[in-house]
Amino acid sequence: MTSQLIDSFGRVHTNLRISVTDRCNIRCFYCMPETDVQFMDRKDLLSFEEIERFVKVAVGLGIEKIRLTGGEPLVRQQLHELIRKLSHIPGIREIGLTTNGLLLGDQAEDLFQAGLRRINISLDALTAEKFKQITRRDGFDKVLQGIEAAQQAGFDPIKINAVSIKGLTEDEIVPFGQFARKTGIEIRFIEFMPLDADNAWEREKVLFAQEIIDKLTAEIMPLVPIENQDRRAPATEFAFSDGVGRISFIASVSQPFCLSCNRFRITADGKLRNCLFSLEEIDIKSLIRDGADDAAIAESIRRSISEKKEGHEINTARFIQPSRPMYSIGG
Ligand code: 5AD
Ligand code: SF4
Repeated sequence: MTSQLIDSFGRVHTNLRISVTDRCNIRCFYCMPETDVQFMDRKDLLSFEEIERFVKVAVGLGIEKIRLTGGEPLVRQQLHELIRKLSHIPGIREIGLTTNGLLLGDQAEDLFQAGLRRINISLDALTAEKFKQITRRDGFDKVLQGIEAAQQAGFDPIKINAVSIKGLTEDEIVPFGQFARKTGIEIRFIEFMPLDADNAWEREKVLFAQEIIDKLTAEIMPLVPIENQDRRAPATEFAFSDGVGRISFIASVSQPFCLSCNRFRITADGKLRNCLFSLEEIDIKSLIRDGADDAAIAESIRRSISEKKEGHEINTARFIQPSRPMYSIGG
C-alpha cells in the first residue's frame, strides 16, 4: 500500500498533469499573446529522464493517472519516447495527451505504438474561418486530418475539447452536436477561463454550459446525463436522448468542481502547481538538479498538496489571475 496525497480538505490526489513544453504552433487568443511570446529556455525544460524520475516518486504517493500537456506537447521532439518510458512505470493506470492535433497526422502511429491510448484534441470551431479567428493561424484541415489519423491508429477514447466563448462560438454548438453524433467522438465544451495571456477575460465572455445544453436540446434533441460517471472528473457527461452522440461540459466558471479536484501539475520548467489558478509554485527542477533524493522530492509534493486552497475564486472580487498564462501552465 503506497501513501496518499490528501490535502486539508480531504481531497485525495491521484492525477498528475505534466506540461512538456510551453511552445505552440498556433496562438489561441484565450491562451497566448499574438506576438512576442517569451518561451522558456530549452535548458530549463525537464528532460525525459527528469520527468520519469519525478513520476516514479509521485506514483509512490498514490498518483495513478497522468496527462501530458503543453503548450503543444507534440512540438517536443520524440515525445513518444517519453510516453514509452512512462507507460512502463508500475502503478500508472492511465496516460492521456491533450494536443491541438496539428501534428497528429505525422505522430499518431508512433504515439500509439509507445502505449498511448487516450487523446483529447483541442478544436473550438468546425469552419476554417472561425478556426483562424480563434487560433490566429491556418491549420483547420490539418487538425481534421489529425483526428482521422487518431481514429485510424485506434485511439480510444478520442475527445474534442472546445472552448466556448460568448459572441464567438455560438454557431459552432449545433455543428459540434452533429459531429459528435456522426463520429462517436465526445465533444467537451469548456467554459472560457481567466488564463489568457492578454488579460482580456471577462465574465461576459463566458458561454455557459447551460446555454449550450439549451441550444442542443432545442435544435437537436434533449441530453440525458450518463450514469456511473466518475464524480471526481471535472467533466459532466451527457448523451443525446436517442443514445447517439456524447457531449460533456467543463463548467469551471458556472459550476466550479474544486471540491472534488484530484489533480496537480508540474510545468515544463519543473514547477509544482497544486491548482490551475495557484499564485505559488514549488521549484522541483532545482531540487532535482541539486541532487535531492527521492524523499526530498516526495516531501515537496506533499507540501504542495497540503498548501492547496479550497478552490479558485473566479466568481469573487478577490480573484487574482495567475501571472502564468495557460500555455505555460499546461491546462
Ligand atoms: N479557458 C478555457 N480553456 C482553455 N484552454 C486553454 N486556455 C483556456 C482558457 N483560457 C484549453 C485548451 C485545451 C485545454 C488544455 O485547455 O483549448 O483544450
Ligand atoms: Fe497552443 Fe493550446 Fe494555447 Fe491553443 S490553447 S495556443 S493550442 S497551447
